[in-house]
Amino acid sequence: MTPPPTLLVCALCKFPAAEAGVDGTTGGQYLLDQLREQLSEGIALQPVRCMAACDRACNAALTAPGKLTFILNGLSPHQSAPELAEFCRQYAEAESGKVPYGLRSPAIKQATAYVLPALVAEPPAIEVAG
Ligand code: FES
Repeated sequence: MTPPPTLLVCALCKFPAAEAGVDGTTGGQYLLDQLREQLSEGIALQPVRCMAACDRACNAALTAPGKLTFILNGLSPHQSAPELAEFCRQYAEAESGKVPYGLRSPAIKQATAYVLPALVAEPPAIEVAG
């Protein structure tokens, strides 16, 4: 059985300057709490401690074996959970994880920093001249 898609979210990210903070929590932890209530079954939610993009909080990555990996940043702790949860659902249904661009919400389009190809089990052979 294939492991489920995993959404990694940095729990240490601060609230962005444009958003009001919430006492006693970080922006990343606040986003994680919102996602726990909104993610569909079959999506694993994994808190992580710093993704080395602290100035672009909040940060997340969506990945699964054999699928594209999406690196997302600038996510709003207060507003992005519903659209992120919907994107995870779309990603889980897409065979390669390639959610058609036109079906992605504006927030997801804006937050997508990088898209990485799926890892292959056997890297292609490289011919060496000589
Ligand atoms: S604290 Fe979130 S990326 Fe560093």
